[in-house]
Amino acid sequence: MQFIDLDAQRERIGSRMEDAILKVVRSGRYIMGPEIDELEAALARFCGVPYALTCANGTDALALLLMAKDLKAGEAVLVPSYTFAATGEVVVWFGATPIFVDVNPDTFNMDPASLEAGIATAIRLGLKPVGAIPVDLFGLPADYDAIAPILSANGMWMLCDTAQGFGAKYKGRVTGSIGDFAATSFFPAKPLGCYGDGGAIFVHSADEVEVLKSLRVHGQGTDKYDNVRIGMNGRMDTIQAAVLLEKLRVFPEEIEARGRIAARYNAQLSDVAIVPRVPVGSTSIWAQYTLRVDAAKRDALIDALRAEGIPSAVYYRLPMHRQSAYAHFPTAANGLPVSDRLAAESISLPMHPYLDEASQDRICERVRRVLA
Ligand SMILES: Cc1ncc(COP(=O)(O)O)c(C=O)c1O
Repeated sequence: MQFIDLDAQRERIGSRMEDAILKVVRSGRYIMGPEIDELEAALARFCGVPYALTCANGTDALALLLMAKDLKAGEAVLVPSYTFAATGEVVVWFGATPIFVDVNPDTFNMDPASLEAGIATAIRLGLKPVGAIPVDLFGLPADYDAIAPILSANGMWMLCDTAQGFGAKYKGRVTGSIGDFAATSFFPAKPLGCYGDGGAIFVHSADEVEVLKSLRVHGQGTDKYDNVRIGMNGRMDTIQAAVLLEKLRVFPEEIEARGRIAARYNAQLSDVAIVPRVPVGSTSIWAQYTLRVDAAKRDALIDALRAEGIPSAVYYRLPMHRQSAYAHFPTAANGLPVSDRLAAESISLPMHPYLDEASQDRICERVRRVLA
């Protein structure tokens, strides 16, 4: 059994993908070929946002947006501590200060009260709080309607890190279309993943697109010999765009399948563990199916599953504010207790659209045997 079974998907759509890859190889248009424009239009349509721009990976997607905002030293960006390191890492690249905030224990996502405390911390430290990066952790959208008014009251932007949540819905909106701008990742293990690294940015104005297109290619201007700003090489390879165009065709069906599996897991496990809660008005894309279990039993559970050939994963054993490279950055308050607790209690089970019911039942039976 695999944690995320990419082979099963390849068996289903592999020949179409291989044809699409071969077409790019034969065309010679490896950089910015026509599939890039096609994918950008398809992604924008998919999430109902005016503009989508592809880029090399999800980390670059975040970084390009911060570059466009001219983030700099003396400025602070509020980031949940319980996330993948890229969310906070990019803030440091620009000399700005990440301020780590706590998350909500039910949703694993940015806690609006902690966000407010973090903004106060920034001001107390003489930093200018300019923005926040809520994350759609494990595939569930952050509580944007609670976060947005706090940010706008403080004149701050909202960059939605939907690397794990692309395709989920929040009150009728698809992630990518939410916030001042959004970034996602197409890392192979993501619900919509390519065959290497890839990412995308979602923005709302033509002016922003022009700046980001320039930054993505070393700050190029209309005269290709005259770079008008400091940029980077942040392009997506055409081959990855060709793969994603094929995968996007089956993505809606795969989203449904993920939802069905999560519902079956919930039904079988809710009496032995804290199962993930999806607030009314939201859907999750189920990038991960993550339980909270008694911290003292987690290692035994991992071992028992492993003994039966069932993989599991613990994401974020150390929240960012506990990691060596980040522990010296400020936190919203003295300690982030929920992030610490989730780091000790969470465990993710196999989740992919091709996980059959017999395997789901076998996983649940083993989990129950340890926890019941
Ligand atoms: C929340 C979050 N942000 C950013 C990233 C970075 O994406 P990438 O690996 O494509 O650079 C990831 C990737 O795992 C992520 O989970």
